[in-house]
Amino acid sequence: MNIKVFENKAELYQAVTDFYVQVINENPNIILGLATGTTPVPLYKNLIKAYQHNQVSFKNVKTFNLDEYIGLPQTHKESYYSFMRNQLFNHIDINLENTFIPSGTIEPSKAIKAYQSLLDNNQIDIQLLGLGSNGHIGFNEPGTSFESTTHKTTLAASTIKDNSRMFDSVEEVPTESITMGIKDIMRASKIVMIATGKNKAQAVYEMIHGKVDESLPASILQKHKDVTIYLDKDAASLLK
Ligand code: F6R
Repeated sequence: MNIKVFENKAELYQAVTDFYVQVINENPNIILGLATGTTPVPLYKNLIKAYQHNQVSFKNVKTFNLDEYIGLPQTHKESYYSFMRNQLFNHIDINLENTFIPSGTIEPSKAIKAYQSLLDNNQIDIQLLGLGSNGHIGFNEPGTSFESTTHKTTLAASTIKDNSRMFDSVEEVPTESITMGIKDIMRASKIVMIATGKNKAQAVYEMIHGKVDESLPASILQKHKDVTIYLDKDAASLLK
């Protein structure tokens, strides 16, 4: 694991942005695995700026998102479909036909089959990950098999609580999602994880120093051959 600790978030996100601008310029047909949540937002903002300054083009980039809530209409502002359009896709020159997110509105078994077949036919070059405060990656909650592929999940109570900040009330947070499995995430050629803030420090510690165990899904990253973890000082505060 390549671990980078930054003094502050601005420096962290600048470093991740520079990395993405470089790899996209080196390979304009790159296939990116993307994430939602709070963590990638500053990166997406910086990438929009880089696009506006003609430093990068997404014309031929293909993207696959990690997950989607089940049951929210695509038009709901917290659906990951809307999130990706609002936070990134609507502001860059990506071809929307090259952007893929599991469907949270069609029958889940159909959505899973369709997404898995896409993943099986596309090698993700770089998978971006955030980290759940309980160590989840995607919506692969503690206890998920390391052999899992795309599947339906029930969100952990702690995840529902964490994500309720985006909704009017905790009751409005969907309880289920469709997520890429851990095996799918591990198939990416390269993995980039970002974690910031004190509330991630324990999960960061266990991910890096703990046993590789399904009780802490992100611990599997210890077994990936090319993973870079970008941390701010708070998220790194418990590291040895
Ligand atoms: C998002 C995702 C989740 C988040 C994680 C951290 O697509 O798959 O694993 O990355 O829950 O969320 P934030 O960034 O909101 O702290």
